[in-house]
Amino acid sequence: MQDFSRRLVAWQRRHGRHDLPWQGTRDPYLVWLSEIMLQQTQVASVVPYFERFRARFPDVASLAAADEDEVLALWAGLGYYSRARNLHRAARLLVSEHGGHFPETRAALESLPGVGRSTAAAIAAFAFGRREAILDGNVKRVLARHFALPGFPGEPRVARRLWTLAESLAPARGIERYTQALMDLGATVCTTRAPACGRCPVSRSCEAFRRGAPEAFPAPRPRREIPRRRTVMLVLLHGGDVLLEKRPPTGVWGGLWCFPEAPSVAGAKAIAARLGCKVGRTATLPPVTHGFTHFTLEIAPLLAMSAKRDPRAGEPGTMWVPLDDAGAGAVPAAVRKILALVARQGERGGSRRARSRAREARGAAGS
Ligand code: ADE
Repeated sequence: MQDFSRRLVAWQRRHGRHDLPWQGTRDPYLVWLSEIMLQQTQVASVVPYFERFRARFPDVASLAAADEDEVLALWAGLGYYSRARNLHRAARLLVSEHGGHFPETRAALESLPGVGRSTAAAIAAFAFGRREAILDGNVKRVLARHFALPGFPGEPRVARRLWTLAESLAPARGIERYTQALMDLGATVCTTRAPACGRCPVSRSCEAFRRGAPEAFPAPRPRREIPRRRTVMLVLLHGGDVLLEKRPPTGVWGGLWCFPEAPSVAGAKAIAARLGCKVGRTATLPPVTHGFTHFTLEIAPLLAMSAKRDPRAGEPGTMWVPLDDAGAGAVPAAVRKILALVARQGERGGSRRARSRAREARGAAGS
């Protein structure tokens, strides 16, 4: 075994993480589920979602049999919802094409929706003990530093070199602990900011450390402006209910329930009219911003009271939901934020009405 992997493995034994809820199992379903949740999401955020998901869907068959809405509802708040849709699709594929069993090779795992090369390698290593190299964001950072590799890892030329390095370092035996060691080192020692080189088991061979500039690697993404997009969301209320609309399966927040969206306030009112709602009072709520990878969405929520509820609003793809329940469904975090604003507005409105009733009562008593 090479020095690099030997030192990492010894370090993992003593200093790595050993009690994460997806460790201590070789069940490929649980390994797969955890690896998908851990894509772009930190361990601390994933743990409660993983526990809830596992409790509700303990195996691939139960997930395949589920309704997409329920899967999305369990995912709500974790972000990157295409992961949940792909997970569900993959479960169905596993049942229909693989008899409910996971394939064991990286190549076959990689053919599942939502499973890229690194995730497939992690599943193959953790569940089946295969010698496969992972290369997620943490590992890219560890390797770019250790070998002082120039260039942004998002560039194909740099990524190719990183993959070659990752593959050459993977040990023939003990791949599970080595893989976990790389992940643990990236998350707890070789961090993006202020890496703890004093605690690093491979600092003596680390070229970035030798140069006294660990944070200089990997090179950052070349800067570009993140565009801002604006949208109006129509928060249509009738009685204690709010109108939600299911978004198309692809694109931003695909398949989640959301407020109807329009480019302008006039457009939002036109949607209400098209739905057969008679809009009375309206109010603009404070804007809510939501950052996506490639753009920032600035949402202007338009609160509109509908005096009438037409059967058209309630046809498939739209539904009236009690305001208090809406946040618990398959809705994106931004919608939940707006629902909280509406609730607060309601409380303020409620207390204003209570104060004015009290004033009227006092006035009546005095006259
Ligand atoms: N990040 C990605 N996969 C992980 C795992 N299995 N444990 C901890 N962090 C991870």
